[in-house]
Amino acid sequence: MQRTKTIISGLIIASLVIFIGNTITPQEPPQPVQATHGMVVSTNRLASEVGVEILKKGGNAVDAAVATAFTLAVTHPSAGNIGGGGFMLIRWADTGKAVLVDYREEAPGRAERDMYLDEKGEIIPDASTLGYLAIGVPGTPAGLDLALERYGTMSLPQVMAPAIKLAEEGFEVTQPFSRSLEGYAKIFSRFPSTSAIFLKNGKPYQPGEVFRQPDLARTLRLIAKEGPTAFYKGEIARLIVQEMERGGGLITLEDLASYQAYIREPVRGNYRGYEILSAPPPSSGGVALLQLLNLLEEFDLSSMGHNTPESISLMVEAEKLVYADRAEYLGDPRFVQIPVQGLISKRYAEDRLKKINLSHATPSNQITHGIPTLYESEETTHFSVVDSKGNAVANTYTLNGGYGSKVVVEGAGFLLNNEMDDFSSKPGFPNMYGLIGGEANAIAPHKRMLSSMTPTILLKDGKLFMVIGTPGGSTIITTVLQVILNVIQHGMNIQQAVAAPRVHHQWTPDFLYYERDTLSGEILKTLLQRGYQLKERRSIGDAHGILVDPKTGKLWGGADPRMDGVAVGY
Ligand code: DON
Repeated sequence: MQRTKTIISGLIIASLVIFIGNTITPQEPPQPVQATHGMVVSTNRLASEVGVEILKKGGNAVDAAVATAFTLAVTHPSAGNIGGGGFMLIRWADTGKAVLVDYREEAPGRAERDMYLDEKGEIIPDASTLGYLAIGVPGTPAGLDLALERYGTMSLPQVMAPAIKLAEEGFEVTQPFSRSLEGYAKIFSRFPSTSAIFLKNGKPYQPGEVFRQPDLARTLRLIAKEGPTAFYKGEIARLIVQEMERGGGLITLEDLASYQAYIREPVRGNYRGYEILSAPPPSSGGVALLQLLNLLEEFDLSSMGHNTPESISLMVEAEKLVYADRAEYLGDPRFVQIPVQGLISKRYAEDRLKKINLSHATPSNQITHGIPTLYESEETTHFSVVDSKGNAVANTYTLNGGYGSKVVVEGAGFLLNNEMDDFSSKPGFPNMYGLIGGEANAIAPHKRMLSSMTPTILLKDGKLFMVIGTPGGSTIITTVLQVILNVIQHGMNIQQAVAAPRVHHQWTPDFLYYERDTLSGEILKTLLQRGYQLKERRSIGDAHGILVDPKTGKLWGGADPRMDGVAVGY
C-alpha cells in the first residue's frame, strides 16, 4: 500500500515519552477529537467535512456516509471510488437493528477459473492486478444508492452535490496526494485515459495546484439525476463497455445490468462483555475477527501488556490458525457453503486453542485448517460515522490496489478496480497480499471475490461503543483486532489505539510483520529466540474510529496518523 506519511509521526504521537535533547519529558497521550452531536472520521479532510455538513443539515449517518463515500471518490482517488466496491455496516440506535450492505465487485460473466494461467498452468504476471483483465464489475454506485434509498433520508442529488462541486471546481492538491501521483506516474503513463486525468503534461500535479475532474463531475451528475441506472444500464455503462473493447476487458452490458448490491445480516459475536458486529462473507473480515477474539478471550492480555513478546506471540499464533481456516473455507456464500457458525463458535475456538504454543512459534507448515463443521449449529479506505441519534455507519470500500487496475474509463473520468486479484487464481499461489486460497475462492462467473474488509461496530450493554475499520489488504483483520484490544485490554483512548504500532501474521508466508522502528531490540531478540521469522514493514493500515463515552454519550474520534486522516465532529 502506498503510504504518504511514514509511521514515524504515528510513533512519536503514540509514545508516552518524548525525547527532547537528552532529557525525557513525560507526554500526555494523543487525544481524540471530541464532539457531542455527530462525527465523521475518514482518511481525507474534505470528505470528513462533507459528511459532517450533511449531519448538520439534519441528514442521518447513512446520508453522511454516502456523501463521504462519493466525496472520497473525488478527493482520494487512489481508493475512494465509484469503480470499485465494498461493505457498509449500519446500526440504528433506537431499534438496535443492524444491516450490512454488500456492494462487493463480482467476476464478469466471461471470467474463467484459469483465466490468469498460461498453457503451462503458470500464473501470467500482472494479469490479475494491472489493466483490463483485473477488473471486476463495480458495486459502489449500486451499494451507495441502496443504502441511501433504504436507510437514508436525503436524495442522491442532495448528498452528491458536494462531491460534484469538488470534481467540477477542483480542490487544492496536498503534498501527500502529489507524492502519491508521483509514485504512480510511470504506470499511469501506460494508460492514456488515466494519464489524461492524473498527470498534467505528463507530470504529477504539484502541491497547491488545483485538480479538476470535469469528466468525473459529469458522471456523478448523471448518477445523481438518473440513479445507478445511468451507471449500470445507461450512458456510463456504454462508456465502460467501450473501454473494455478498447483494452480487451471482459465486462459486458449484461454484466453491468445484472449487478446487484445485497442486504446481509452482519456476523455477531461477543468478547469480554462487548458485542461485536462485523462484515459477513463474501468478506472474511468479520468471521476472522470473531475467531481471533474467541481465541484470545481465554488469556489475560492486559497483564501481558501491549506489544510485549508474550502478547505478540499470542496474537500471532492465533492469527496463523485463523488465516489457515480463511484460506480453506471462505468465499462467496452464493457459491460455496461456509461453516460460519462453526468457525465463530466458542467451542470451535476451545478446540483450536489446543494448537497454540506460546513458548515457541509453531511453523506455518505444521498448521492446517480445522474442522469447524463439527461445531455447526488485504488502497482501500475506511470511514466511520455517528449521527446525533447514535446511529452508526462503518464503511470500507476499495479499488483494491492503489488506483485499482489503473484504467480510467475514457469520457467518464473514473478508475476501475483490480479486485479480481482477490480471487485465488491458482490453489496455493499467493495473491498480491500473499494470501492463498483454494476451491472456496476459485474464480467463477458472477462470483464475488473474497475480501478481508472488516467494517465493525462494538456495543457495550446494548449501546453503541465503537465504530472501526481500516484498509490494508490481508492486514485489515489484524489491524481491527489490535485497535479493539488496545481499547478494551490496554486502556488506550481511541486516538492512541489507532496510532499504536502494529504487528501482523497471516499464516502464510510464515513471517511476523512489524512496523519499522517500533519494537525494541530486546523484544525482537526474544521473538527470534521463540522461532519467529521477522519482517519489517513501513506501515500497516489506516484505521479510523469513533468511541462513544459510555458515561456521557460524548463522541471521541481517532484518525490514524499514518496517512492523512481527520476526525471532524460538531
Ligand atoms: O477486499 C480486500 O480484502 C482487499 N481488496 C482490500 C485491499 C486493501 O485494503 C488495499 N489497501 N491497502
